[in-house]
Amino acid sequence: MKKIVEIKNLRKTFCKGDICVANSLNLDLIEGEIFTILGTSGSGKTTFLRMLAGLEKPDSGEISIDQEKVFSNNINLEPNKRKVAIVFQNYALLPHINVASNILFGSNASKEKLEVILEKTKLKGHEKKYPHELSGGQQQRVALARAIINKPKILLLDEPLSNIDTELRNILRTELKEMIREFNITALFITHDKEDAFFLSDRIAIMHGGDILQVGTAKELYNNPKTLYCASFLGKITKIDENSYIRPENIKISENGQIEGIVKENIFYGNFNEITIFANGQNLIVNSSDENLKVGDIVKLSFEDRIMKF
Ligand SMILES: Nc1ncnc2c1ncn2[C@@H]1O[C@H](COP(=O)(O)OP(=O)(O)OP(=O)(O)O)[C@@H](O)[C@H]1O
Ligand SMILES: [Mg+2]
Repeated sequence: MKKIVEIKNLRKTFCKGDICVANSLNLDLIEGEIFTILGTSGSGKTTFLRMLAGLEKPDSGEISIDQEKVFSNNINLEPNKRKVAIVFQNYALLPHINVASNILFGSNASKEKLEVILEKTKLKGHEKKYPHELSGGQQQRVALARAIINKPKILLLDEPLSNIDTELRNILRTELKEMIREFNITALFITHDKEDAFFLSDRIAIMHGGDILQVGTAKELYNNPKTLYCASFLGKITKIDENSYIRPENIKISENGQIEGIVKENIFYGNFNEITIFANGQNLIVNSSDENLKVGDIVKLSFEDRIMKF
């Protein structure tokens, strides 16, 4: 598997070292994957992406893109020499020029290439429209087309799905994934949204306070988080003793359960019920399909084997 991006000991501080936004980061991106940096606001995601693109200068470390060193202590390639392209959160389309000109902006791509891109991004017939005449999905495709037309080695996406209502977001992220696959491009996506990360990514890195805490597939991170922070960031957990935690779907209500509890709440969410049960001196959150349990019912619980220890 070919490494498209290699990052070694990348460090960046702001305000004379007071704020550390990249604390000696190490990361490899593999050709063709969709890789997501997932972290809360202020964790350092945008700064990381900007350093890759050459828009922010790291304090130290190394960045290679497609086997070429683009940053080290004596190298700092300009953004346009780095074979990267960015799709920004608001797409940053130019309002006073049409779709075709937006796609070709800053590019010396031929008319033929434009035709191919228009076809592939389903924008054929819309090339003379202005950005305000397009739907959200079409605007996203223009931004993608513009980013992809020069065949970058890596596509960087800074929260393109934020500030969009849920229904449209679900459509846009499906399209986004299809397009990235269609163009067979390596993509680095950054988001604070766990669901978007799970939907889009081959692998995810959890970022927090300028550190990458853990890298893995969604399943690996969810089932085997290395730290309490990662565990609770990716889903609900309940503490069951000093250093053991469990997810709601791994607590079972059954006749043979060893722990007795009393139902405090049963909330219907459509595809599952979230039941709060007071047992062992504390409230446990349990996911179950049992719609009929009522407040005050006595139940027996057992913990499945997925207990997490930190
Ligand atoms: N130019 C700058 N000067 C000083 N501090 C900065 C600068 N840019 C970013 N920071 C700080 O670095 C930290 C990380 O910012 P960054 O924009 O990388 O976070 P983020 O993870 O992208 O957050 P968000 O999800 O809100 O976009 C923040 O504390 C921010 O205030
Ligand atoms: Mg950001």
